[in-house]
Amino acid sequence: PTRILAASYATSANVKKITVIGSGLMGAGIVQVAAQSGYHVNMVDLKEEFLAKGEKIITSSLKRVAKKKHGDDAAASKKFIDEVMSRISLSTDSNKAASESDLVVEAIVENIKTKQALFKALDEAAPKDAIFASNTSSLPIADIAAATNRKDKFAGLHFFNPVPQMKLVEIIRIPETSDEVFNTLSDVTKKMGKVPVACKDTPGFIVNRLLVPYMMESLRLVERGDASMQDVDTGMKLGAGYPMGPFELMDYVGLDTIKFITDGWYKSGKGLVGDKLVAPSPLLEKLVKEGHLGRKSGKGFYTYEGVGADKGK
Ligand code: NAI
Repeated sequence: PTRILAASYATSANVKKITVIGSGLMGAGIVQVAAQSGYHVNMVDLKEEFLAKGEKIITSSLKRVAKKKHGDDAAASKKFIDEVMSRISLSTDSNKAASESDLVVEAIVENIKTKQALFKALDEAAPKDAIFASNTSSLPIADIAAATNRKDKFAGLHFFNPVPQMKLVEIIRIPETSDEVFNTLSDVTKKMGKVPVACKDTPGFIVNRLLVPYMMESLRLVERGDASMQDVDTGMKLGAGYPMGPFELMDYVGLDTIKFITDGWYKSGKGLVGDKLVAPSPLLEKLVKEGHLGRKSGKGFYTYEGVGADKGK
């Protein structure tokens, strides 16, 4: 008789319902691309008002997508937006949302204790086969996974801001992450129209491990008085073909975020402790202390018209 392989082989076909926890900048983006690709998604946050904010991020982004897709055809645009939105449910109960999900993606505040507490509770509440993923930028995936009893079904799923536009997703494997889980996450991200790359659980993964020291080096260059920040930005755009210079990029990411990441790595980043590449920068420290955090606060290295404005001066 034919031997039937009983081992459950997870594929993206098994992922039908996704829960995204955190409906901020990243969470809302992940919910949007998942729903646009046909997944049913639970969007979870602590309060209704935060969910409403996330919903607003999604609808305004979908309007832009609809305009590109359907131009001035208002009926077609409305149909497209309504269809995507119909696949999104809102909830303030992360355990209940996870209990009916095949994949849970966490995009909450970047705090190890908060993430561990969340995953500990989810581990009890979610089906035992559900895959857990964290969108963390700077915390070790292993430390977050340690709060669960499903390390084989745990990975990092690192999207980039703005999620609907940025094609890359880094999939971070801890030693326990199974091949099936990795392959499933790879398939799911491809279905979302993204390009997955794999990386071990090292500080910054691929992109930020290279980008953050580059940004810090640009700060040192200006601090030494070797060049002006405007000339550094122009240099990297016109000489290296980067779409933004490092100072424009830091304003976009948020100066508090850059400080948070480098402080963490300088103190406890594997292979980076005490490394001058990620040592504090006086210029960055000063701006953060003054509350100049970049575009989101209206001023960082450059000044922006109105808080959250798109155009720098
Ligand atoms: P955000 O501050 O815009 O959103 C976080 C959301 O999580 C908030 O709405 C907050 O109310 C909610 N939240 C906090 N604790 C919660 C809990 N226990 N349960 C449910 N919801 C909770 O933050 P953002 O920028 O979206 O970042 C989220 C995560 O994504 C962080 O881990 C960050 O490191 C990572 N990330 C951020 C990127 C960025 O460019 N902002 C890029 C890639 C990753």
